[in-house]
Amino acid sequence: PRSVWLSRHGESMYNLSGRIGGDADLSPRGHQYAHKLPELGDRPLTVWTSTLKRTIATARYLPPNYNQLQWKALDELDAGVCDGMTYQEIKDVYPEDFVARDEDKYNYRYRGGESYRDVVIRLEPIIMELERSEDILIVTHQAILRCIYAYFMKKDQSRSPWMNVPLHCLIKLTPRAYGTDEERYQADI
Ligand code: G3H
Repeated sequence: PRSVWLSRHGESMYNLSGRIGGDADLSPRGHQYAHKLPELGDRPLTVWTSTLKRTIATARYLPPNYNQLQWKALDELDAGVCDGMTYQEIKDVYPEDFVARDEDKYNYRYRGGESYRDVVIRLEPIIMELERSEDILIVTHQAILRCIYAYFMKKDQSRSPWMNVPLHCLIKLTPRAYGTDEERYQADI
């Protein structure tokens, strides 16, 4: 690829209440980011989102000549029975799971859900398609972006659960012969 542009969805109502997973709408700040996103790019892009409302809404104001595609494989890490809970609720209801995840976050698989390792596997078709595409903007979720980021930055995937991918930040990755160049544009909202 020439460049890969990465962004989390704008802040969601679940982000505000500290809940994971779900299919919440954007918060007012999240909507502001959606309005800012078109100013951050510098050339026409193809946009890939997940199938969840918060990523589609974040990409909503990009120019109509940007092709948009939704991928189920870009949906957030499936937290299974913990979907929609806060971390405190998970700790109260599934204390041994909370500890197990802390001890091995990469391999820990939520009951009825996924691990980071599972996500890396389901992202394989996305990575293959990305490798043969030019100038893609991916609007997706924190866990997913961490894995895609680790791939392009040639970091060990087992470190992906701790990659720092802030909200309201557009990351531009440009693969080069010697490594990947990275630029970050933090929206001021
Ligand atoms: O629910 C998924 C979150 O975006 C990932 O956060 O893996 O650090 O708990 P976490």
